[in-house]
Amino acid sequence: MWRRSVSAGHTCFGLKGIWGFRAVHTCDAPALPAGRITALQAMDLWKRHFEERGVTEPDQSSHYIIAHLLGATTVESLEQRKLTELLSLEKIEQVWKLCTRRLSRMPVQYVIEEWDFRDLTLKMRPPVFIPRPETEELVELVLTELKMKPDTRVGADGQHTILEVGCGSGAISLSLLKSLPQLKAIALDQSQDAVNLTIENMLRLGLQDRLQIYHLDVIKDAQTLLSLCSPVSVLVSNPPYLFSEDMASLEPEVFRFEDHSALDGGKDGLKVIKQILNLAPQLLLNYGRVYLEVDPRHPQLIRPWLKANVEELHYVETRHDITGRPRFCILQKEKSNKDRELNLGLRN
Ligand SMILES: C[S@@+](CC[C@H](N)C(=O)[O-])C[C@H]1O[C@@H](n2cnc3c(N)ncnc32)[C@H](O)[C@@H]1O
Repeated sequence: MWRRSVSAGHTCFGLKGIWGFRAVHTCDAPALPAGRITALQAMDLWKRHFEERGVTEPDQSSHYIIAHLLGATTVESLEQRKLTELLSLEKIEQVWKLCTRRLSRMPVQYVIEEWDFRDLTLKMRPPVFIPRPETEELVELVLTELKMKPDTRVGADGQHTILEVGCGSGAISLSLLKSLPQLKAIALDQSQDAVNLTIENMLRLGLQDRLQIYHLDVIKDAQTLLSLCSPVSVLVSNPPYLFSEDMASLEPEVFRFEDHSALDGGKDGLKVIKQILNLAPQLLLNYGRVYLEVDPRHPQLIRPWLKANVEELHYVETRHDITGRPRFCILQKEKSNKDRELNLGLRN
């Protein structure tokens, strides 16, 4: 059974109100119990303590931490016996240690150092961005399109290669590689922590034969990126896309623990997105596609900007997430007839 959360597995980026700060109390833990207690009692005690201290998702937080310490992903997948027998003193101390971290508002994913993304369990470590549920929808979208059009946009080796800009923990690239055994991928990130975590997750999943990982900044290292990472059939990215002014409204879990450069997309949230779109025609094979996860306000900003600024890249469509918000942009490289004729040597 997969883990699901919204507190630290937050959706709705950039929407004020939903991300508003809650009262943050001091993070004093309850005293260790005098005797031994069961997992169910520990869950109930910590749930109430989290509630009193204003920690989001008190129920899920205590459940995920204690299930993890008992060797499971969810409470539902634990045998009833494990929930009702007395915990060892050592286990109780571990419960207190991890729950106290959660009390400091550390996201539960960092507390237990792993999280599920589609059918993968990935290592998580601060400050590397924790994959959000809507990014699973982005992966599904790319997978569906690659399965539907298997013959178009393949490279000289007859295989599709995808490039992911801003790989974080590696969730998108590793998930695509796991689902498509012929696929190859290149992933890059400006953060050394992210690159290290993607490498670690790649090795754990045994996907090192099909993934190249680079420590590159899509803005500062554009020339290196163009020479190392092209041509590809698909460019995919969940870039930093928050409007800078929305950073102050983030929940403490996000604001205090996650890398701000993974979140802040500049004044209009488009800083990295514009650079990806500028480079896309040089990175993609003809008819290659770009798939982006964006803020719901972005599709209507990207369309006119693209028309005015980038040749050879055409806006295909906007897709909505399961809550009905416009969150995914699909674009396609299409060389003009003039360019094609020039390439074929038909014009002087
Ligand atoms: C929103 S996170 C997405 C991480 C991962 N793809 C996921 O969906 O879980 C954005 C990522 O882009 C990276 N990033 C931000 N600016 C970048 C830049 N200029 N060049 C390359 N990567 C960048 C951040 O370090 C971060 O890992």
